[in-house]
Amino acid sequence: MKKIAIMTAGGDCCGLNAAVKTIVCEAKTKGIEVVGILDGYKGFIEGRYKELTLDDVAGIENMGGTILGSSSKECPFYYLIDKEKNIYEDLTDKGIEALKNMNVEGLIVIGGDGTLDSARVISERGMPTIGIPKTIDNDMIASDPTIGFDTAVSNNVECIAKLKSTAYSHKRAMVVEIMGRTSGYLTLYSGFVSGADVILLPEKDYDLDIVCNKVKEAVGKNRYAIVAVSEAAKEIGKKETISKIVKDSFEQKRYGGVSVNLAKEIEERTGIESKSVILGHMQRGGETVFSDIIRASLQADYALELLLNNETGYIVGMKEGKLSKMQFPKIRVPRVLDIDNNELIKTAKNMGISFGI
Ligand code: F6P
Repeated sequence: MKKIAIMTAGGDCCGLNAAVKTIVCEAKTKGIEVVGILDGYKGFIEGRYKELTLDDVAGIENMGGTILGSSSKECPFYYLIDKEKNIYEDLTDKGIEALKNMNVEGLIVIGGDGTLDSARVISERGMPTIGIPKTIDNDMIASDPTIGFDTAVSNNVECIAKLKSTAYSHKRAMVVEIMGRTSGYLTLYSGFVSGADVILLPEKDYDLDIVCNKVKEAVGKNRYAIVAVSEAAKEIGKKETISKIVKDSFEQKRYGGVSVNLAKEIEERTGIESKSVILGHMQRGGETVFSDIIRASLQADYALELLLNNETGYIVGMKEGKLSKMQFPKIRVPRVLDIDNNELIKTAKNMGISFGI
């Protein structure tokens, strides 16, 4: 291959730039040109690209976000072309044609499960493609963990440490809302490492009485309580808290706000002043931690190797610390946090951390 393209799509996370840098540097040493598709599938369909040089990627390995831009909307084979009339079209071939017209012979796509499902279609339609999984949610079967997860945990731990000192001073409960959609990995790891008293996961509905009792106990002993709540967690018999429906997005539901009501309820029931803090998109940004840079670089290197060997149609990930590859799955199967058998949950329970169940 003499020319390849790379694209980042879906919600950004740390580690994307490290992967982009690895691909560009390695391709250049092999005399291969690299085209960056801008703003994810939006740029793919609209034909917006940039030839990438070594200067473009100098010093970007630890930078959050993606120099290529991203979009968490737009699916090329179900592309919203008229919002008012709700008309969708399959524009995949248009994007592939544009790449072929530029003599692009292979594509590497870095994204979450929605993004990589579209990459599968591009691959099936004849453009040799390799996918690299990334998401702070850590819910993809292709990799454990996924690129971006470690940095997000580290960001959250840093934020919660700051909340602890103010919570201690005021004898308060802090209800900290953490991203992850319907997957509890990010909340579990962030909450555990932060020494949270209560961790509420979307995989199992919580009992508010149990939560309140634990908050009372923690404030009684330590002057404060930290409740780490996943954005899609819910009380038994209640509904999840949806903040928005994004129609042209692969994952249409946007969560947000569960902590606001929960803090109110804890305060009403326990008489302990309780504040909600939504960590929001701070979780995704900042400086990339070393493990995400290493993971992203190894996976990018492997992705390029496979692409150049014409072994395409794969997602490359890491499992048990080793590089692995799997074919683009036809059906999206998320990696589910098995809360009955997870070792970290077992340890946390043994230490007295409550899961509200
Ligand atoms: O999937 C990654 C993620 O950060 C989720 O944890 C979160 O719910 C969602 O994306 C937020 O999406 P957006 O950036 O569109 O608000």
